[in-house]
Formats: sequence, structure tokens, C-alpha cells
Amino acid sequence: MAEKKRILSGMRPTGPLHLGNLHGALANWIEMQDQYDCFFFIADWHALTSDYEDTGSISNYTREVITDWLSAGLSPEKSTLFVQSRIKEHAELFLLLSMITPVPWLERNPTYKEQILQIANKDLSTFGFLGYPVLQAADIIIYKANGVPVGVDQVPHVEITREIARRFNYLYGTTVFPEPEAILTESSKILGMDRRKMSKSYNNAIFLSDTPENVSSKVFQMITDPQRKRKTDPGDPKVCNVFEFHQLYSDPETIADVSGKCRSADIGCVACKKIMAGHLIRFLEPIREKRAYYEAHPDVVTDIMNTGSAKARGVAQQTMEEVRAAIRI
Ligand code: TRP
Ligand code: SF4
Repeated sequence: MAEKKRILSGMRPTGPLHLGNLHGALANWIEMQDQYDCFFFIADWHALTSDYEDTGSISNYTREVITDWLSAGLSPEKSTLFVQSRIKEHAELFLLLSMITPVPWLERNPTYKEQILQIANKDLSTFGFLGYPVLQAADIIIYKANGVPVGVDQVPHVEITREIARRFNYLYGTTVFPEPEAILTESSKILGMDRRKMSKSYNNAIFLSDTPENVSSKVFQMITDPQRKRKTDPGDPKVCNVFEFHQLYSDPETIADVSGKCRSADIGCVACKKIMAGHLIRFLEPIREKRAYYEAHPDVVTDIMNTGSAKARGVAQQTMEEVRAAIRI
């Protein structure tokens, strides 16, 4: 059998994972585990690029997110799960790549331009924030990853990574680094309770770690078809976020039934939500059970982080031997 292609992706530890993260990224990673040699990591240094003033929760969130990964089905037997800051070689490669990366490549990065404008409450005029894509490039190419499963928002970063890898290979006359491809993950259509994009910072998210009671009360707060004022008004499931959730978590009969009865005003939104909440809670049950196990066995999680980070570090160290030889330093 031909060797599996290697993929790598990471998440910044900004909080517990929600349904948007699950359907937008994590579910894909879980599926890719059999097909690829997978490296998944927590980008805790990247969290510092914007949250350098408020670092108190980064290490807790690192553990939380790893626990979410394990609970949802990432397997330490199949994939290498690790923490960026444990692999000091990422920092060494970041430094070396910074020597060969033209500043205009970074200044024209659309993500950079957008965030500088949008995030007004933090001072992002730092060297580290401008260099975000260089660190990301180091993360990716230090493992010689062939593919990077990410959402569209990260495509510019993968593109810069390719340019940096190409430039390194050209300048030092070797092909230490393959040029990684972005593997596009379809972004989750799941909206938050308020129908905006689901996000922890919007306070509209349903977390994988929410209790059944939490899930029920959040579902209860969800905005439905905004045109439907009374129970006697017919509704339109096509514009209703609760119905989107039904399509993910309910069985085909329920979906057909709810859809028909909504249009004919034979079901009210409260009853409809109750049915959906039941299915969502059932969907989350196995995740919650696994989480309870990992919470009761913190040493297991620590072990998984240690083992994965040691394995990643071995690979990174080997690449750095080649890098130093290529640069002759
Ligand atoms: N920038 C990515 C994000 O915000 C996180 C990340 C850091 C990453 N390093 C990476 C993703 C390397 C893929 C590969 O989502
Ligand atoms: Fe949405 Fe259900 Fe209410 Fe119809 S009945 S508007 S699908 S919550």
C-alpha cells in the first residue's frame, strides 16, 4: 500500500467547541483519520498573537479543546494530537522563515487587513500579529504536510505557506518542503440562537459540553421563522434555523412531519423545538459520555498530549536537521 498522505490542521484555544466548530471542521477531521496520516494541534502561540494581554485562559482552553476533540471522536491511536508550544522547533523555523519572507506578502494578506480594521478593542499593530502566517507556515511545513483541511477564511494563509515553502526551496537549492494544498472544508451552515454565525463571542453558541438542560434552554431561545408571529400563522421551515437543526439531528419522518405541520400551522414552534432538542440531546449524548470519562481521568488526557507532542517533536526535529543543513547554519 502506498504511504498515506500527511495532513495537518490546528485550532486556536479560544474556548470550548460548539456545534459550528463540529460541523465546520472537527467532523471532517474525524472522517479523514483513516485515509490520511493526520497531525492535529492546538495553536496556543497563535492565540497569543491577538490575546497577548489576557493569557489566563489559554492553557485551560488547550485542555478543553483537546477534551472536545477526543470526546467527538479524534483518536490518539489514529492521529497525532499535540500542542504547538511544546514543539520549540516551530519557533526556530518561524525565525528562519521570517528571514526570507518579504513584508509586503504579509501586509497584503486579506485576513490581516480585515482583522486590523475589525478588531478595534485590541492593539494588533505588533510584529507577531503581522507574522501570524509565517508561524502558520512553520506549523505546516515542519511536518511536510501535503494537505491542510481548513475553511475558506484560511486559504490566504495556506497560499502564503506555499509561497514561503517555494522560496525556501529555491533559495537553498533543495526541496526540503512540499507545497501543501488547502483541503477546503465546507463551512457549517449552522447559525447561533440569534441567527448570526455561531460563535462563542456572540454568546449564541451551543457547546459540545453543554448539559441537556443547557441545550434545551438554548433551543428554547432560538429565533424561528421571523414572519411567524402566532401559532395560527403558517410558518416557512426554509427560513427557520430550528428546521436547519432538524435536518441535522432528526430522522427523515420527523423532518417531513414537522415541515408539513409548520406550513399548515398544525404545530407550534415550542412543540417543534422540543422535538428537535430531544434529538440534539441524543446526538450529543455519546460525546458527553466520553467527556465525562476524560474529565474523571485527567491523567489520560495529559498522557495523550504528552505522547502526541513527543511524536510530533520527533518529526519536527528531523525536519530541522534538514533545514539547518540547507541553510548551512
Ligand atoms: N490560523 C488557524 C485558525 O485560526 C489556526 C492555525 C494555526 C492553523 N496554525 C495552523 C490551521 C496550521 C492549519 C494549519 O483557524
Ligand atoms: Fe421553525 Fe418549527 Fe416554528 Fe416551523 S414550527 S417556524 S420549523 S420552529
